[in-house]
Amino acid sequence: MKTRTIQEGCTRALVPLVPDGGQLSISSASVFYNPEMELNRDLSVASIAAYSELMSSRRHLELTDITYVDALSASGIRGLRIAKEVGVNVTLNDWSEEAYNLIRENTALNDLTNKVRTCLGNANVLLHKERYDIVDIDPFGSPTTYLDAASSSAINMLAVTATDTAPLCGAHLNSGIRKYSAVPLNVEYHSEMGLRILLGMIARDLARHEKAMHPLFCHATRHYVRTYLEVKKGANNTDKCLKYLGFIAHCTKCAARSVHYGLAVHIPEKCKVCGDNISIAGPLWLGPLHNREFCDSVLIQLTKRELGKKEHALKIVELCRNELDIPTFYDQHLLTKKLGISAMPMKELLKELKANGFKASRTHFSGTSFKTNAGLEGILDTLRRFR
Ligand SMILES: C[S@@+](CC[C@H](N)C(=O)[O-])C[C@H]1O[C@@H](n2cnc3c(N)ncnc32)[C@H](O)[C@@H]1O
Ligand SMILES: [Zn+2]
Repeated sequence: MKTRTIQEGCTRALVPLVPDGGQLSISSASVFYNPEMELNRDLSVASIAAYSELMSSRRHLELTDITYVDALSASGIRGLRIAKEVGVNVTLNDWSEEAYNLIRENTALNDLTNKVRTCLGNANVLLHKERYDIVDIDPFGSPTTYLDAASSSAINMLAVTATDTAPLCGAHLNSGIRKYSAVPLNVEYHSEMGLRILLGMIARDLARHEKAMHPLFCHATRHYVRTYLEVKKGANNTDKCLKYLGFIAHCTKCAARSVHYGLAVHIPEKCKVCGDNISIAGPLWLGPLHNREFCDSVLIQLTKRELGKKEHALKIVELCRNELDIPTFYDQHLLTKKLGISAMPMKELLKELKANGFKASRTHFSGTSFKTNAGLEGILDTLRRFR
């Protein structure tokens, strides 16, 4: 395999030399390395550092006492960065012999041979055999086939990436249903739909192991969804967590939506606003996506580090920190198009909604989107008054 050396954060790694660098050649290379995921890894370093420091101060532990596994490591770049830039005890696994050999080379390249353990094998076997404080699942495509083993293994934190955004967001409906045992809808807030479908699936996987999840920081981009979840053991915690599962009823005609908590619920068939038939998505996660204090700690971690995608990472975490804890965002452009009026500057719209006594915030999902408790009619009133 021909390689080149890359650097992310303060970690170096040999990665396959991909002739034209396109996504197709990246995914067919003998060992996977996607430079576009540097932002995801920068955020991982900061989030896992924030969580590990919290754990170490809560439990009077050394960072080296905290165990982390990247069960699908490829070149090893993600876990090597966690070992070098965070300092916890790292295990790196891949079932490809070529990947395993490259991980070992990269471990030596970073002087981490005494600190990083490398394994060659099936991720599910490893995770069913061993328990780790922090389990990271970063596959190509859907993570669902690893979630049972990951749920069994994770003691304190579970971090999961999903790159199959089309099935998650309802663009490939049947594939979404097969993989996530849920019905996603391809609506204007499809990125949030994807995140909540994935979280719903993880909550149910963890529940079988009597574990509950508390989302600390979750974000979505066009290419992937990523979640950092605190894991808590116990039937009571788990029962409480499952109460956040439910359904979203959506009217494609007028964009009104309602949320329905529970797994056996009665959902009216007609839209309360316009009377049209509604569509239903779920079961999915209706609980919080972020923990404000945790996002603050991630911001501190990002600020003090040398990272290639620092500015972008800071922007995402700041938006997540300030995002209202309400399911489903509205897209201003879509609403103003329906009304036949021009869009307002987002700052003005948020100010007006707040002046009318509602809560309102931007979201990290898109620059034209916002969250509010105003309901569709409250939003439309505000927009119409400013036409
Ligand atoms: C997307 S890559 C991982 C990328 C890496 N986490 C990073 O940040 O660069 C997925 C890797 O999972 C490995 N893999 C796929 N299925 C596996 C399994 N069941 N057990 C172990 N490794 C597996 C593949 O060989 C591939 O190297
Ligand atoms: Zn309607």
